[in-house]
Amino acid sequence: MAEASAGAGDRRKFAQRLFTPLPKRYDRLAELLSFGQNGRWRRAMVDRALEGTPSLVCDVATGTAGVALQLASRNGSRVVGVDLTEAMLRRGKLNVEQAGAQGRISLTLGTAERLPFSDSTFDALTFTYLLRYVQDPAATLAEIARVVRPGGTVASLEFLLPENRFWRAAWWLYTRAVLPAAGWLTGGREWFEVGRFLGPSISGHYQRYPVSWTVKAWKEAGLTDVQVRRMSLGGGLVMSGRRSVG
Ligand SMILES: C[S@@+](CC[C@H](N)C(=O)[O-])C[C@H]1O[C@@H](n2cnc3c(N)ncnc32)[C@H](O)[C@@H]1O
Repeated sequence: MAEASAGAGDRRKFAQRLFTPLPKRYDRLAELLSFGQNGRWRRAMVDRALEGTPSLVCDVATGTAGVALQLASRNGSRVVGVDLTEAMLRRGKLNVEQAGAQGRISLTLGTAERLPFSDSTFDALTFTYLLRYVQDPAATLAEIARVVRPGGTVASLEFLLPENRFWRAAWWLYTRAVLPAAGWLTGGREWFEVGRFLGPSISGHYQRYPVSWTVKAWKEAGLTDVQVRRMSLGGGLVMSGRRSVG
């Protein structure tokens, strides 16, 4: 599918097709194929989200609930996770049950483009690896800001490309050659497809929406104090901001 030109519905179907076969191995392979960096980036994002000790947090694109579990266990927050792929959520529910966190985490089917919540519902919101899958990132950011109360925190984690030429070349080699092969060896055909998809998806996204564009889009969505943290030589991007008051 030509990702860049796909409509909103096609993009959602594409994400569902991509993620439906993945949940069984997702938690293990997400760590393995990122050399453990996913866990570091996630902790950095959760640090930002918990700064205001929020009582109620929304985790968008929650998947298998890894971020939701961390939010709930570190701060005792109540967390509502939203995702459009049923299979990921089923695995998420299992993970939540195994952690005994059913009282604090609920998971619900929904899309980031139209969140099933009233305005200003949450004290904080996180979203992870989401913006490459939506057709209109600026509109999705506005929808995300809508459900956070004024003064509440938004924090995100996305993949990024290193700026330094040497590390960018290494990143290119890793994503174009090593990742598809490692995906095949560790997870079979479905993970080969993910490995093959990720590199071009990340570079294509930042060609259209550079980090400077993304910072502007956060501000236009009504978020202030927008901060950008490039991690792991520029392979990960943690952003945070606060919903503006008034
Ligand atoms: C790479 S996974 C990340 C899961 C989890 N946040 C984590 O860090 O482990 C991306 C998730 O985004 C979900 N997703 C993609 N597009 C979405 C959309 N438009 N609305 C809600 N969820 C979406 C997918 O179903 C998938 O579970």
